[in-house]
Amino acid sequence: MEHEPVGSAPGADDAARLRRRLVDELRSAGRLDSPEVARAMDTVPRDRFTPPGTELRDAYADRVVVLATDRSGAPISTVSQPAMVALMLEQLDVRAGHRILEVGTGSGYNTALLAELTGPGGHVTSIEVDDALLLGAAARLAELAPGEGTPLDLRRGDGWLGVPGNAPYDRLESTIGVDDIPPAWREQLADGGLLVAPVWLRPGLELSVAMRRAGPVLHSVSVTQCGFLQLRGPHGADPHSRRLGSGLSVVGDGLTGKDVEIIRALAETAGVDIGRVPGLTERRWWGVSLSDPRAVLFTGRYGTPVAWGIYEPDGPEGPGLAIGSDGTAVGHGDPIAAEILRHRLEDAPEVDPSRLTVTAFPAGHPVPPPPADGHSWRITRAHHRYRIHAPEE
Ligand SMILES: C[S@@+](CC[C@H](N)C(=O)[O-])C[C@H]1O[C@@H](n2cnc3c(N)ncnc32)[C@H](O)[C@@H]1O
Repeated sequence: MEHEPVGSAPGADDAARLRRRLVDELRSAGRLDSPEVARAMDTVPRDRFTPPGTELRDAYADRVVVLATDRSGAPISTVSQPAMVALMLEQLDVRAGHRILEVGTGSGYNTALLAELTGPGGHVTSIEVDDALLLGAAARLAELAPGEGTPLDLRRGDGWLGVPGNAPYDRLESTIGVDDIPPAWREQLADGGLLVAPVWLRPGLELSVAMRRAGPVLHSVSVTQCGFLQLRGPHGADPHSRRLGSGLSVVGDGLTGKDVEIIRALAETAGVDIGRVPGLTERRWWGVSLSDPRAVLFTGRYGTPVAWGIYEPDGPEGPGLAIGSDGTAVGHGDPIAAEILRHRLEDAPEVDPSRLTVTAFPAGHPVPPPPADGHSWRITRAHHRYRIHAPEE
């Protein structure tokens, strides 16, 4: 079926052709199944949401486009990668007429897709913390009127608080990462409604989780690995990743600036080769990472994992660090870190992130015993306790 793109602009034919090709490529790569999402992506002109001067072929490549950076040049807003946009929209399972809240308007591209999916009988609220970005998105969306005039309500503010005035929502999508679901998102979601958000669990494990609300509890219905910018503002998520220098960063759960100094100093000491560590595979690493908050991940310039390890700040003889890569490991400082690494590698199961389930219980709510089969872990944050479960392989 042919669909006219919303709005029209010079070069619209070329854009339509490239857009169609991107959708076809995503479909044949198995990254886009839903006909509704495909139709929406085939309709909304992504090139109208990328910064001026972006080449058409870049607007329709399956790549992130940076919208805004901070003073250090680090991105603070992007038009997300089309494959990720498609995946999250499939997880969100929008039906015609849904009331939707989007957190992180950015360029407004995903807002337009949401409008296409819910249609004129639905309603989309979108909140963005950055004034300039919101103004840009509002102008584009006013011009394009996606979804044949789907009502849109664009707000400037801290999305951590949601937008209570338009609740309850059938669907809530965050396009910005958190390490704890803000209570307002759960409270503003209709019972039975779906929430999709990038949730950072542990080093190397950031998941786009679709969760259904059942009373006060959120139960995941699908998870997929992702990598997202983290929520900004007074309730901002911990950055998790901190620069060590020479293009390397260390990623950890709750590392302080002092920890990073210690890790940097330890890594510069001559290490003790602790030989081969059997089972140091990526899947085993995810098991270690879920099992132990002392797990750390070392990444290169583009966030690519280069080594894994354990950082124990309070060893009997001081802090210790064990760094493993390619099946071997090196210990620095107190040897306890190397012992912990070996021990964890023996005990931790291999984990396939796509098979994990995540359940979020509000702080203070009782957490029932985990299922008898497989492996379960618990992660406690300020507002929720998360039970992560991996079924038996
Ligand atoms: C990955 S980008 C958004 C992509 C966007 N959906 C698009 O299609 O262009 C995430 C956005 O979240 C915004 N953001 C960060 N912290 C926020 C907060 N506390 N409240 C609302 N928006 C926030 C950022 O400014 C950024 O524009």
